[in-house]
Amino acid sequence: MTRTVSTAAQPLWDIPTRVFHWSIVCCLPIAWWSAETERYEVHEWTGYTVLVLVLSRVVWGFVGSRHSRFGDFIVGPGALLAYLRGARATSVGHNPLGGWSVVLLLSLLLLQAVSGLFNSDDVLFTGPLYYWADTGFRDTMGVLHDVAFNILLALVCLHIIAVLYHQLRLKEKLLQAMLRGSAEGREGTERAVAWWRAVCVLLLIALALWWGLEQAPKPSFVF
Ligand code: HEM
Ligand code: HEM
Repeated sequence: MTRTVSTAAQPLWDIPTRVFHWSIVCCLPIAWWSAETERYEVHEWTGYTVLVLVLSRVVWGFVGSRHSRFGDFIVGPGALLAYLRGARATSVGHNPLGGWSVVLLLSLLLLQAVSGLFNSDDVLFTGPLYYWADTGFRDTMGVLHDVAFNILLALVCLHIIAVLYHQLRLKEKLLQAMLRGSAEGREGTERAVAWWRAVCVLLLIALALWWGLEQAPKPSFVF
């Protein structure tokens, strides 16, 4: 007897992957706005949120549900070239090009958040690792924080254009799947890993980050 599994139990994108995605989408404009308006407390906390979310997504890429795992959508150069020449994608999740763009987006988000930890506006706000680094390293991180954001913006624009192309031109239901988990033609092939495991991963990472940043050297002068 064959057992049918509901699309809710066997989604293409599990709940943690979707929550991660839409949370990042909310965080980026807030990080941008808070930097531009010099609301650094908001900026700092948004940055920590991004850092914890991205690190959790990286861990979920190893222990999460089938199509959220890097092993499901990262392919070698040969398979990527074959896809670009017209071969079919091997995964029902991210296609080979999309898979590498996910890695690039996650890496840039990580670089953005980590470089922020060493950053300062030279007036009122310093990142928690500012006093840990020497001047040369801080300067490099300051430049990276600026440059990475511009690259990130360009990539996000490309990402949105690619999603819209697949959605509107190729009539693939990418958005519905990223919102609801599955959609017609975008169904998962395995049962999802329990979402509460992602909550445990997230809490552990947040705790480790908080503890690690607490150990950072503080300024030696007091006003
Ligand atoms: C702040 C800007 C954004 C960033 C940093 C971002 C990043 C990402 C990442 C990292 C993934 C991979 C998901 C994963 O496997 O964890 C993804 C997938 C996806 N994103 Fe975004 N995203 C952004 C904005 C948007 C917007 C505005 C839309 C809607 C138009 C969108 C629609 C999608 C869809 C539909 C997927 C699934 C693609 C697929 O089926 O292969 N994203 N995004
Ligand atoms: C992914 C998360 C983050 C994003 C998208 C982001 C984005 C930005 C942007 C667009 C700017 C203005 C451009 C610039 O002057 O470099 C900025 C400035 C700044 N950010 Fe972030 N940031 C993030 C995380 C962080 C974190 C975690 C910290 C520290 C806790 C931080 C600290 C700063 C500081 C101190 C500045 C002012 C730099 C200056 O005035 O030269 N950022 N950030």
